[in-house]
Amino acid sequence: MDQESAESTQSGESVGPITSLEASATTIMERCDLLARFSEEPDRLTRRFATPAMREVNERVATWMRAAGMSVRHDAVGNLIGRYEASASPCKTLLLGSHLDTVRDAGKYDGPLGVLVALECVARLYRQRIRLPFAIEVYGFADEEGLRYHSAYLGSKAVTGAFDGRLLALTDSDNVTLAEAIRRFGGDPDNLATCKRDQDDLIGYCEVHIEQGPVLEYEGLPVGVVSAIQGQSRIEVIFTGVAGHAGTVPSALRRDALCAASEFVLAVEALSRQTAGLVATVGQMIVQPGASNVIPGAVALSLDVRHPDDDIREAMCAQLAQTAQEIATRRTVTAQWQLLQATASVQCDQQLAQLFAQAIEAQGISVKYLPSGAGHDAAVMAAITPIAMLFVRCAGGISHSPAEAVAAADVATATAVLERFLHSVAQLPVSPRSKAHEPV
Ligand code: GLV
Ligand code: MN
Ligand code: MN
Repeated sequence: MDQESAESTQSGESVGPITSLEASATTIMERCDLLARFSEEPDRLTRRFATPAMREVNERVATWMRAAGMSVRHDAVGNLIGRYEASASPCKTLLLGSHLDTVRDAGKYDGPLGVLVALECVARLYRQRIRLPFAIEVYGFADEEGLRYHSAYLGSKAVTGAFDGRLLALTDSDNVTLAEAIRRFGGDPDNLATCKRDQDDLIGYCEVHIEQGPVLEYEGLPVGVVSAIQGQSRIEVIFTGVAGHAGTVPSALRRDALCAASEFVLAVEALSRQTAGLVATVGQMIVQPGASNVIPGAVALSLDVRHPDDDIREAMCAQLAQTAQEIATRRTVTAQWQLLQATASVQCDQQLAQLFAQAIEAQGISVKYLPSGAGHDAAVMAAITPIAMLFVRCAGGISHSPAEAVAAADVATATAVLERFLHSVAQLPVSPRSKAHEPV
């Protein structure tokens, strides 16, 4: 690693001795608090893809990236990218980061924590005037949750070249197409191919994220190493019946779309209860026309299906599609089934995961490997580069809720682990691309 001679950054921030991990954790916690103020809704945190709230967050994070010695750009889909140059060129690039969009009524840490821990590690290198033999790029992915278009990972899919151009025609709740949303955000929907990274340039993609489950808390551990990420399918089901007067149409003569949808919701619950490992969720229902004295004529619902085994997940989706048709036929309504997204389960890279494990051990902490039930940009990035993830304990395992909480001390530990990890990657004799992506 090389020492830089520059005494100050372009933004005027002094470089100098390293700050304590506690001070770094305080910075990260304060920044998570600050970013949580950028919301589309006044009383709760909701930040969808390519919205003004997302623009404000990106601008704020870009300022911090520049102060950490990074050059900053947006790609054509709207991902924010900060690059910290290597000690020499040509060089490979290690990608770090997470997402900056949120669910509706979100917590502060799902996504932003991973971006901000990565950014702080780069800032710590910069303050010590250290360059590593590889460049580091920190991604603030534009869409991981899929809240606006019900199709997740729009940001990371563009980076891997897996973005399906047909998605550009999707519309949001205001009838704005995805193509138009990207354009309004300053991106270029006609040139999403430019977001794609050359896999030969990459060392890997590593993401810090809150665990979103209770295991680390139960084990009394601040951090853990992710072994694998389970797959998921997202589907839109539309039941269409006949709207009518709530006072005049007898029950037996109704073709009520909401009754059909409700029966389907209970069938989803029953299947997930009787199938080991399956979790299936109807998280949203839009009832049309939506009035207390009108029989529901149409219902659009979201279905999220997950299982560690991709074959079982697909079989369960097929079974639920059949169930929807059976309910519709019996109730003389129709059911339309549209698969919006399917992501396969992925294994984390053995070599990178081991480096995380060694970095944890070096902190005097026992190593716990655990699978991720939640989806992450890392699952998409695995298509082009080795991936690894570090989970941070979160209170009660709660996420996708304003009750999300992490301890500053755990954030300090995660920062120490990621920092040590970066130095270990620098010591690797060869690029840590393990072709087989051996399971950890
Ligand atoms: C991402 O948060 C997911 O839905 O798993
Ligand atoms: Mn999430
Ligand atoms: Mn997340």
